[in-house]
Amino acid sequence: MSEEKAILTIGDKQIELPVYTGTEGERAVDISKLYEEHGLMTFDPSLANTGLCRSTITFIDGEQGILRYRGIPLEEFANSKPNFIEVAWLLIFGTLPKEQEILDFRQMLTERALLHEGIRQHIELMPQGAPPMAILSAGINKMVCYYKRFLTLDDDDQFADAAAQLISQIRTIAAHSYRRSQGLPVMYPDPAMRYCANFLHMMFSLPYRQYEVAPEIEDAMNLLLILHADHEQNCSTATVRVVGSAQANLFASCASGVSALWGPLHGGANVKVMEMLESIYQGGLSPEECLEAAKDKANPFKLFGFGHRVYKNYDPRAKILKDSCDRVFAILKQKDPLLDVARKLEELALKDQYFIDRKLYPNVDFYSGILLRAIGIPTNMFTVLFAIGRLPGWIAHWKEQHDNPTRRIIRPRQLYVGNNQSHYVPVEER
Ligand code: ACO
Repeated sequence: MSEEKAILTIGDKQIELPVYTGTEGERAVDISKLYEEHGLMTFDPSLANTGLCRSTITFIDGEQGILRYRGIPLEEFANSKPNFIEVAWLLIFGTLPKEQEILDFRQMLTERALLHEGIRQHIELMPQGAPPMAILSAGINKMVCYYKRFLTLDDDDQFADAAAQLISQIRTIAAHSYRRSQGLPVMYPDPAMRYCANFLHMMFSLPYRQYEVAPEIEDAMNLLLILHADHEQNCSTATVRVVGSAQANLFASCASGVSALWGPLHGGANVKVMEMLESIYQGGLSPEECLEAAKDKANPFKLFGFGHRVYKNYDPRAKILKDSCDRVFAILKQKDPLLDVARKLEELALKDQYFIDRKLYPNVDFYSGILLRAIGIPTNMFTVLFAIGRLPGWIAHWKEQHDNPTRRIIRPRQLYVGNNQSHYVPVEER
C-alpha cells in the first residue's frame, strides 16, 4: 500500500496517483488505472522507464554500478570459489541452498543430462553450418514434444523437475550443436563430472581421447556463467515474461529468451566485440578510427561492448571479467593480443568526450569474449554460453510471475499515428 501520492495535472483536472517505494528506495508512480479511469495512456517507447513488475530476484543500481542477486553483491560470488549451480538455485528458489539441497539438485541435473535420442537426431538433421543459437532455441522448444509432463507445472516438485531438466539439457544441446557445426561425433554427458566440466567434456573430448579439464578453466567458466545468470528486466528476460504471461509453458518461454538474446544489441554483442577487436588487431581499423566510426551518427556502427540501458557507470560484471582475464592468462601462462587491443580501446573511449557525455562504459560483453576464448570456446558459441548462464534468471522470472496470483497477460498500448478512417478501393479502381 502506498502512503505517498503523485499529482498529475492535465487541463483543469488533477489526478492522484499512488507512489510505491522499493526496498532500495527506488520510487515508482502507479499509472495502471490511468487509462481505465481517465482515458489516458503513458508514452514510453522501448519501455525505457516502465516498471514491468515487482521483483525480488535481482537489484541493479545503474548509476553506482551495483548488481546483487537476492541481495548478495556480485563481487562476493567472484571472490569466493564460485559455483554456478549454487547461484542458479539461489536465483530460482530464493535462498542459498543448504549442502543437502545442492547435492540433491546436482543429482537431478546428472540424471537429466542425457538428451532424448529424438532430440539428438533432430540436431543431427540440421545443416552443418546452422547457427548454434537457432539449434538451441529449437532444441529447448522440442523438449516438450518428448516430455509432455512439462506442458503444465502445477506444483513445486514438477517445477523443480522441469527447471533441472532445462538447466541440465541446455548444456547438452549446446555442446551437440557445436559438434554438429564441426562435423564431429557427439560426446554423451559423463555422470561423474560436475556441471561446467561435463559441458567442456561434451564440447572437446573425442571418442578416443578424453579432454582434461584444468581446474582453472572450470573455475573461469563457473564465474562466467554466474556473471551472466540474471540481470533483471533485460531484453531476453522481459521476453520470457511477456511470453510466459500468456501462460505459455516454461520451455516455450525460455526458447523465446534465446531468440531475443541472439540479437547483436543484446547477447550477440560479445561476438561483435571480438570481430571488432580482431579487425583492429589485423590492422583493418585503428582504435581511433573505430571510435570515430562509433561516434558518427551517419554510420550504424557501434562500439560493441560499450553502453547500457541501465548502467551509467562501469558495469560491475565487466570489471570482474577484466580482472579474471588477467588472472586466467597468468595461470595458463597465455597471452591474447586482443586483450591489449581491448584495454587500449577502453582507455581511449573513457577519455573521449562523446563517451563521457553519454556515460558509456564497458558492459559485460566487452571482456567476456576474451575470457571465453581463453577457455577454448569458439566464437560461434559465445552467445550460446551467455544463454546457458542466463537460463537460471529466465527460469526464476518465469516462476516469480507464474506464482503471482494477480498476474495478467502483458499487453502494452500504442499511440496510433496512422490514417484516419479510409475505405477499401477495389483493385481496378486504384
Ligand atoms: N557506441 C556508440 N554510441 C553509443 C553506444 C555505443 N556502443 N551506445 C550508446 N550510444 C549512444 C547512442 O547513440 C545515444 O547517442 P545520442 O544521445 O547522441 O543519440 C547515446 O549513446 C545514448 O544511448 P542510450 O539511449 O543510452 O542507448 P540505449 O539504451 O538505447 O541502448 C545499448 C543500449 C543497446 C546497449 C547500446 O548502448 C548499444 O548498442 N551498445 C552496443 C551493443 C552492446 O554492447 N550491447 C550489449 C549490451 S549488454 C547486454 O545486453 C548483455
